[in-house]
Amino acid sequence: MFKVTIGITSLLPRRMASSSIQASTTLMRQHIFNSNTKLTISHFSTSSILRHGHLKKPVPGEELKVTFVLKDGEQKTYEVSEGETLLDIAQGNDLDMEGACGGSCACSTCHVIVDPDYYDAIPEPEDDENDMLDLAYGLTETSRLGCQVKMSKDIDGIRVALPAMTRNVNNNDFK
Ligand code: FES
Repeated sequence: MFKVTIGITSLLPRRMASSSIQASTTLMRQHIFNSNTKLTISHFSTSSILRHGHLKKPVPGEELKVTFVLKDGEQKTYEVSEGETLLDIAQGNDLDMEGACGGSCACSTCHVIVDPDYYDAIPEPEDDENDMLDLAYGLTETSRLGCQVKMSKDIDGIRVALPAMTRNVNNNDFK
């Protein structure tokens, strides 16, 4: 008997997850009506994918402000909840921040440049973040990864700029 196992993991970025689901659907179409085929679908988790771009509504009176300076210089200010990451806020508001690794600190496509007035109020980056930042285009003294910066009262009013270019990690980075 032919057995097919399909998994949808929470680690996949949204676009990859989408193509994975499409591939799953195609496989199901090909095998579901074949009586010799046992189809097993394992949904490991989809919570991480669903979380991105779905922001909690801030509690009235506890809103925190964040301003994004876009690539064309336009500024967008949002009121958000404590604990939201800059990546989630950007994606939830359809800003141009790719977040290719889904926020797992494995790319640099969520690179932001923090206003120096706020940089020191953000908890220091871990080694993983520093490693990824080293691979970012246009690295500055106040660069951070948007997926690693969470909103808190300490950085209420923070301003961050989206760099003109971002790059992803590729095999050559490890040679
Ligand atoms: S989304 Fe990949 S490191 Fe932030």
